[in-house]
Amino acid sequence: MNQGTVVAGLKLGVNIDHVATLREARYRGRTHGEPDPVEAALLCEAAGAHGITAHLREDRRHILDRDVRELRARIGTRLNLEMALAPEIVEIAVSVKPDIVCLVPERREEVTTEGGLDVVGQLEAVTAVTRRMNGIGVEVSLFIGPDVDQVEASAATGAQFIELHTGAYAESFLEGEGVDVELARLVAASKRARELGLRVNAGHGLTVANLPALLERVPYMEELNIGHSLVSRAVTVGMAAAVGEFLAVMKGYRLGPV
Ligand code: PXP
Repeated sequence: MNQGTVVAGLKLGVNIDHVATLREARYRGRTHGEPDPVEAALLCEAAGAHGITAHLREDRRHILDRDVRELRARIGTRLNLEMALAPEIVEIAVSVKPDIVCLVPERREEVTTEGGLDVVGQLEAVTAVTRRMNGIGVEVSLFIGPDVDQVEASAATGAQFIELHTGAYAESFLEGEGVDVELARLVAASKRARELGLRVNAGHGLTVANLPALLERVPYMEELNIGHSLVSRAVTVGMAAAVGEFLAVMKGYRLGPV
């Protein structure tokens, strides 16, 4: 383990979906409204965020097609488009060409992305979308639970990254139960990914409170994708300050890839 080694910093990708959630609560069906997720993304970048993440859901409950196109045109960092395997969304991704896509499962009834992608059970479909995106120069990340089987299947698809689903860890932290078990799962999945040549991101449910234990234990992470807690905090302290708070906690990470 390279504990103690100073490595290139852990990156912050801000998921701005919930800025659009707030807009849609008032302006659904309109051609403009506030708050504007693109303006929020630009504030995040100015405050030091390394990338912007947006999830174009099939039901368009928050981010809309026009947001994705405008983000592509206006942000200066990396655009990470989260998407399901749905053919309609794949075609949009092909035309928008984000820097990276993160393939996620999607069920309409869920409030947010609840579980990881079942790569084991959908190997062919995931591989086909991965090849299509890689073929036009777009990297691919697979959002999976911290299960070694899913990591191994992810490597078989040819994807460049996995994003480890930290939702169960976040939940265990809230409940005060099972934290060590969830951290051990994340550690094992990250190590296996590294052995297989996959790069590792992580996200879901991360907060300033639950990050320190994650950063102390889980190796090889390159980027964290953080949405709800950061956007929530921005409501009270402003977007720049909220980004700064997360970056300050992430600065101490010493287990990243050398
Ligand atoms: N990563 C992925 C793949 C997600 O689907 C989400 C939630 O949209 C996040 C990260 C961010 O999760 P949260 O909003 O809980 O920070």
